[in-house]
Amino acid sequence: MRLWHNPASPFVRKVRILLRETNLASRVEEINTPVSPVNPHAELAAKNPLVKTPALETDDSRVLYDSSVICDYLDTLHSGAKLIPGGAARWDALRLESLCDGILDAAVLCRYETAVRPEALRWNDWVNGQLTKIRNGLDALANEAPTWGNTFGIGQIGAACVCGYLDFRFADENWRSRAALAAWYESVKQRASVAATVPA
Ligand code: BEZ
Repeated sequence: MRLWHNPASPFVRKVRILLRETNLASRVEEINTPVSPVNPHAELAAKNPLVKTPALETDDSRVLYDSSVICDYLDTLHSGAKLIPGGAARWDALRLESLCDGILDAAVLCRYETAVRPEALRWNDWVNGQLTKIRNGLDALANEAPTWGNTFGIGQIGAACVCGYLDFRFADENWRSRAALAAWYESVKQRASVAATVPA
């Protein structure tokens, strides 16, 4: 399999953590693919019309995107404990993954707004709207974190990617004021899959 990836992307990181948690990493060739909304990548565009990473080319030549679909697919390829559970727990896990994806969507949009968009075209109210989504989402994560125990499934992978991306791109945000979330992240930061995929 081939993973089109950018090591700075928190959505790519979800996939890379899941690959390591499930011992599938050795089956995937990672192709470093720098993309931005204004600087598309021709080779990736031929695989994914949205020109976004992550995209996964499977051994039977399917190209899968986005991170949720890729994680769902990869979780079918191993015989260990599933990171996306079945039964009623599935909906809790997928809802938590969606919450984290939404926080990351808002954070990446903010990042593009400040790092890519020319200053004269920026719209502060819009940025503040995205920051509000991030902060409300973090409050929700902090409320839930004490219930997670030792579970490290798809939802917690998403939460680790949220915390890591905020450290990487939003150092001034002080998300650690939410003590329960900060304490949880301190404990998962040590996991080999999380330590090996710190954004760069
Ligand atoms: C970043 O550099 O922050 C970034 C790169 C790719 C996707 C998302 C974010």
